[in-house]
Amino acid sequence: MKVVLAYSGGLDTSVAIKWIQEKYDAEVITLTLDLGQEENLDTAKEKSLSLGAIKHYTMDVKKEFASDYIFPSIKANGLYEGKYPLSTALGRPLIAEKLVEVAENEDADAVAHGCTGKGNDQVRLDVSIKALNPNLRIIAPVREWGLTRDQEMQYAKEKGVPISVKKNVYSIDQNLWGRSIESGMLEDATLEPPTDAFEWVTMPEDAPDVPTYIKIGFENGLPTSIDDVEMRPLQLISKLNEIAGRNGVGIIDHIEDRLVGIKSREVYECPAATVILEAHKELEKLVLNRHQLEFKRYVDDIWSRLVYNGLWLDPLRANIDAFIDSTQTRVNGWVKIKLYKGALRVTGRSSSSSLYDFSLATYSSSSVFNQKYAEGFIEFWGLPTRVASYKAKRIAPAQERN
Ligand code: ARG
Repeated sequence: MKVVLAYSGGLDTSVAIKWIQEKYDAEVITLTLDLGQEENLDTAKEKSLSLGAIKHYTMDVKKEFASDYIFPSIKANGLYEGKYPLSTALGRPLIAEKLVEVAENEDADAVAHGCTGKGNDQVRLDVSIKALNPNLRIIAPVREWGLTRDQEMQYAKEKGVPISVKKNVYSIDQNLWGRSIESGMLEDATLEPPTDAFEWVTMPEDAPDVPTYIKIGFENGLPTSIDDVEMRPLQLISKLNEIAGRNGVGIIDHIEDRLVGIKSREVYECPAATVILEAHKELEKLVLNRHQLEFKRYVDDIWSRLVYNGLWLDPLRANIDAFIDSTQTRVNGWVKIKLYKGALRVTGRSSSSSLYDFSLATYSSSSVFNQKYAEGFIEFWGLPTRVASYKAKRIAPAQERN
């Protein structure tokens, strides 16, 4: 049997190489994707081959990840439960796609991944793999082996799998769009996460004492420049990770409802995502009308839940994307943001498609808004409320008037 394993270089997937070789008497081919996690991928390759993988693939998919996964998520204001920018979730369908691609090229019988049976990632990978190629068998060693963390360490020692104690305090998943931090003492939801959990964001108390202002330019719903300097997506996102992170912005700490029913305490560092999504939402408020915004908020939330819940390939997402794209042609302009010691605030915005009309909004004498009509508008707007009220009090409409 031949198995293609999604390999991160971490403990679980390293142990998985040995476990798949032994348990299934299989040949293991490993695949490591560069999603912008900024880890040394050569180390992963060496480690995999030294553990007996017959072949290793490294693929740089950063560009694809940005343009085909992060970009649609920006347009959809992708946030799960209003908080989590879906960073891990967005990477999974791409990993599934590449696993299937390599498995097909290698004529493999199965694909494998290091997900546990308690999370969302197994769902995201399995659903996408099965949708892309129903004939591939899926092996999920960590879900199957039933080892505790200590037993796993023991097995690793016996099989000569290197263990880095420092690295294994937390379970980390990172890519260009964010860093997810789990387990260790983060599982106690009452406690503040220790500072050693964070790598991308400076603690606000240590951040610069002067604010940083940035201007983000958008074209068709996507960020294209910082301070009027045009940038490619990868460069722009990396730069914002750095600028916002330096100013203490981008830490998320919340209780998250996993698809499998567990409530878990999740901690993230998503500096660029936090800034971009805030700026994008603000610009949409300037260029879309109230009806478009109300409907889009609803649609955005469905989009986020689909993606979080592993249904990236569901046709509904493509349907929703078509609607979203039709709104984004208006989302052009810029948003100014102030970053200061962990706080982020929009301080200005502008667009050639702006619906903000000064002559309607102003309190000065140049106002063209006819205030006289307000009285009649309020009369009918409040009518259903008033009717309910006077009926409850059993008074006649005529009396209500006085
Ligand atoms: N709770 C997040 C999600 O479901 C993060 C998962 C992190 N995964 C990990 N292997 N540490 O997307």
